[in-house]
Amino acid sequence: MMYSMNPVRIGIVGGGQLGKMLAMEAKRMSMRVNILDPSEDCPASMLADEVIVSGFNDAEAVTRLAEMSDVVTYEIELADADLLERLERKGHRIRPPASALRIVQDKFMQKHVLRKNGIPVADFFPIKGMDDLHSIAGDIGYPLMLKAKKGGYDGRGNMLVKGDASMDRVKGFVGARGGWDAVYVERFVPFIKEVSVIVARSSKGEVVAYPVAENVHDNGILDTSIVPARIPEPLAERAREIAMDVIEALGGIGVFGVEMFVAKGSMGGRRDSGEGAGAYVHGYADEGEGDGYILVNEVAPRVHNTGHYSIEACNVSQFEQHIRAILDLPLVEPRMVCRAAAMVNILGNESIDGYYAIDGIERVMGMGARVHIYGKRSNRGRRKLGHVTILGDDIDSVIRAAMQIKSTIRLVSV
Ligand SMILES: Nc1ncnc2c1ncn2[C@@H]1O[C@H](COP(=O)(O)OP(=O)(O)O)[C@@H](O)[C@H]1O
Ligand SMILES: [Mg+2]
Repeated sequence: MMYSMNPVRIGIVGGGQLGKMLAMEAKRMSMRVNILDPSEDCPASMLADEVIVSGFNDAEAVTRLAEMSDVVTYEIELADADLLERLERKGHRIRPPASALRIVQDKFMQKHVLRKNGIPVADFFPIKGMDDLHSIAGDIGYPLMLKAKKGGYDGRGNMLVKGDASMDRVKGFVGARGGWDAVYVERFVPFIKEVSVIVARSSKGEVVAYPVAENVHDNGILDTSIVPARIPEPLAERAREIAMDVIEALGGIGVFGVEMFVAKGSMGGRRDSGEGAGAYVHGYADEGEGDGYILVNEVAPRVHNTGHYSIEACNVSQFEQHIRAILDLPLVEPRMVCRAAAMVNILGNESIDGYYAIDGIERVMGMGARVHIYGKRSNRGRRKLGHVTILGDDIDSVIRAAMQIKSTIRLVSV
């Protein structure tokens, strides 16, 4: 039952573009939206009924958010899992559960839990110092990925270590992350491409998966997604299966984004390759050589940039699906309402520090593309400022359109 005098109240930790797009869906159903964010004029603030301006680990503020909301969700991994767990114990509804956030928040723990549950991931190793680094490199060779366990995003927590890497640079990176305990090593995956699957799970255990997106990153930050991914159908089916296994393994409730590599080789080719290998040979051992196999890179316990295409290209957006899931409403089996779609991020660049204008919007709209502007007052570095989605009848034409969009949109300092 939905009472007009007593609308459902959603609390969101984080008021960035993801919080804003969640709020837009909530507002379609006239729900109340409470936001907690350090910045008063964050993107979601323009839709929020209430903005609590505070840090994500301010216990008093997060408690206030929970007290004024029927359900609390988050759009950012930096939400405080300890605080949310305490609120859960006091009877507040936290979705996804704090336990899922806690696992995902620490990439090393995340990999460990995924592997224990038979999910295929690249080899990873704890590391205590330079000697360990050398001995791991002796075993698996260079290059390797040094990753911050916590707090990395848009590629910022990662360092690619090559054979000729300066040891001072490595030490500098580790020091800046808080020491060797704060990092771990991952095998470098020479992937064919990167793909992702948005999945949703309800409290009743119902799980649905979106079509596979193919993603192009630029220096660790998402640039373009195209859907459906150009991979063989059995591989796409496998990717969706794996993503559903992931959200189940983590006990997620809500929408998760699962980032994956299509690694070189074939699904059958990994038969003898160590722990968890059974998971990636599952079912398709006789698939042709060279189609690649799926490895999970990382999981986001939230709506995900690579799922933005679903707003226009699917019968149900990832944002509506998330709201359904966290409110124990029925999920919708997602499917595309067009043959192909591309999403292009509008990213800031280093040369623009402060106020900016976006040029080319009119021409892009003239192409029939859908423009999303997040409303961030100023830029620093390569901030995500908006995105553009284009629908089409075939993958080649949306890729051409995406390239045209990329060359049309231009950021200018003002
Ligand atoms: N083990 C790896 N092998 C090869 N490339 C990697 C590996 N891990 C990460 N990358 C590349 O770096 C990007 C960002 O890494 P990721 O771990 O997803 O960090 P973030 O949390 O910043 O998104 C990935 O999308 C991928 O392009
Ligand atoms: Mg990532």
